[in-house]
Amino acid sequence: MPAQPRVAVVGAGPSGLYAAAALLASEVPVDVDVLDRLPAPYGLVRYGVAPDHVKMKSVIRVLQKPFDDGSRVRFLGNVRVGEGGIPLDVLREHYHAIVHASGSSVDRALGIPGEELDGSHGSGAFVSWYCGHPDFVDLDPLLDHPGVVVVGAGNVALDVARVLARGHAEMAGTDVPDRVLETLRGSAVADVHVVIRRGPEHVKFTPAELRQIGELDDVQVLVHDDGVLAAGVPEPEERRQKQNLALLTEWTAHTPGDAPRRIHLHFLRTPVRLLEEGGRVAGMVVERNEVRDGKVVGTGEEETLEAGLVVRAIGYSGEPIPGLPYDARNGIVPNDAGRVVDGDRPVPGAYVTGWIKRGPTGVIGTNKHDAVETVASLLDDLHTLPDPEYPDPDSVVERLEAYGIEPVTWSDWGRLDAEELRLGEARGGAERVKVAELGEMLAAARGRTGAPAS
Ligand SMILES: Cc1cc2nc3c(=O)[nH]c(=O)nc-3n(C[C@H](O)[C@H](O)[C@H](O)COP(=O)(O)OP(=O)(O)OC[C@H]3O[C@@H](n4cnc5c(N)ncnc54)[C@H](O)[C@@H]3O)c2cc1C
Ligand SMILES: NC(=O)c1ccc[n+]([C@@H]2O[C@H](COP(=O)([O-])OP(=O)(O)OC[C@H]3O[C@@H](n4cnc5c(N)ncnc54)[C@H](OP(=O)(O)O)[C@@H]3O)[C@@H](O)[C@H]2O)c1
Repeated sequence: MPAQPRVAVVGAGPSGLYAAAALLASEVPVDVDVLDRLPAPYGLVRYGVAPDHVKMKSVIRVLQKPFDDGSRVRFLGNVRVGEGGIPLDVLREHYHAIVHASGSSVDRALGIPGEELDGSHGSGAFVSWYCGHPDFVDLDPLLDHPGVVVVGAGNVALDVARVLARGHAEMAGTDVPDRVLETLRGSAVADVHVVIRRGPEHVKFTPAELRQIGELDDVQVLVHDDGVLAAGVPEPEERRQKQNLALLTEWTAHTPGDAPRRIHLHFLRTPVRLLEEGGRVAGMVVERNEVRDGKVVGTGEEETLEAGLVVRAIGYSGEPIPGLPYDARNGIVPNDAGRVVDGDRPVPGAYVTGWIKRGPTGVIGTNKHDAVETVASLLDDLHTLPDPEYPDPDSVVERLEAYGIEPVTWSDWGRLDAEELRLGEARGGAERVKVAELGEMLAAARGRTGAPAS
C-alpha cells in the first residue's frame, strides 16, 4: 500500500507557513513537517518586520494556524537543511516532496570603496540586529555619531531610518531585546540621511510607511530634491506614486526647525565611496544626478555626508541550495510555477515558494498566492512521486539525532514564546521582549531557562 504523502517545508517564514496551510487544505491527506534553522518560526515577520509595527506582526495568528491541529503538521525548529545541518539528499529519503521556502537573506553590496569598513552594514544584518536574530546579537552598531546614512528608496530604508530616528523610550514598548534597547538609549544619532539614486516619482515606498516618518514625535523630515518637485515631475500612473509625490511635495515646504532629530531625504544622489577615519566609517561621498531625456545621469559633482554609520537597504539575494540548480543572476532557484527546473526538466519532488522562488520583493500577503500556486503544482505531481525510502514520521527525527540535531517542537516554541511574553510584562508595557542569544532561546524552549543549553 502506498505511504501517506509526506511533505517537508524548509523555512517557517510566511511562504513556508502559507504552503503548509495550503497542503493541509488539500483533498488528499498530506502530512507536513515544517523545518527551520532557527528555534522560532515566522521568518522575516519575526526578524524583519520593524519592532514598532506591532499591528503587522499580528499576522502570526494566521500563520500559526497549521499548527493548531497538530495531528498532521509538525514544527521541527533548530534544523538547518544543507551545510552544517542535515544534507538535502538525506532529507529527501524521508519525504515524497520538499518545498523550499528559505527566503533571500543575503545583503546586496553597493560595490564601492569603503563598504567593508567598521560601521558599514547591509540592512539584512542591521535589521536582524534590532529584531534580535541570534546570528547578529553581537553586531553592536556604532551609534555614537550624530550622522547616519541609509541608502535606498524602499520600505526597508524607511524602517531603518525610522527606528534610528525614534527616541529610545518609544522603542522600550516594542519587542527589541534589552541589549538593543541599551544601545539605542546611548544613541547620539540626530541626522538620518536617506540617499536615493533616482527622483521622487520613482520611490518604492508604500505611502502609509512614508507618511509615518512625517508623524514621528520630535523628528522633522527634510526633502533635498534640488527643486525638482517645484519644477514639476512627470505625473506617475500608479496611485501610490501619486500619493508619495503629494506627500513629498508638501514636505518641501519644511525648513529646519528645532526638532532634536531629522530624517533627510536626498534625491538624485548615487553613493560613490565611504570615508574612513580611525579605521571606521566617517561619511559617504555621493554624486549628484540629474534627469536628462528621462534618464538619471551623474553630473560628476560630489557631496559629502558625514556619518558614523552607513546602512545600505538596497535589496537582498538568495543563497544557492546545495543539490538544487541556482539562478545566480536573479538570486533564485529556477522554477516553473514552483516546480524546481534544471534547464527544461523538472527536478522530481523539489518545489520552491516565497522569496527564493520569485526574488526579494512583495509584502507578507504576496506569499500566500505564491504558496498556493506551488502547492497546486505539487499536488498535481503527487501521483508521480515515488514513496520515500523511510516513510515513518519518527525516522526523520532519529535521522536528525544521528546528525546531532535536537529539533525544537511546537510545544518547545510555546515555552520560548511564553518566556518572551513574560519578559515583555517585566519590562512594562511591551507585548514581548525577544530572547536573542541562541543558547538562551534553546534553554527557554526546553524549559531550562537560566541553564546552559545545546
Ligand atoms: C526588513 C524587512 C521588513 C519587512 N517588513 C514587512 C512589513 O512590515 N510588512 C510586509 O507585508 N512585508 C514586510 N516585509 C516583506 C516580508 O517579510 C516578505 O515578503 C516575507 O517574509 C518573505 O517570506 P519567505 O517565507 O519567502 O522568507 P523569510 O520570511 O525570509 O523566511 C525564510 C525562513 O527560512 C529559514 N531558513 C533559511 N535557510 C534555511 C535552511 N538552510 N534550513 C532551514 N531553514 C532555513 C529562515 O530561518 C526563515 O525562517 C519585510 C521584509 C524585510 C526584509
Ligand atoms: N511595511 C511594509 O509593508 C514593508 C516593510 C519592509 C519591506 N517591505 C517589502 O519587502 C520588499 C523588500 O524591500 P526593500 O526595501 O529591501 O527593497 P525594494 O523595495 O526593492 O527597494 C530597494 C531600493 O534600493 C535601491 N537600490 C538598489 N540598488 C542600489 C544601488 N546600487 N545604489 C543605490 N540604491 C540602490 C533601489 O533603487 P531603484 O528604485 O532606483 O532601483 C530601491 O529603491 C519590498 O517588496 C518591500 O515593499 C514591506
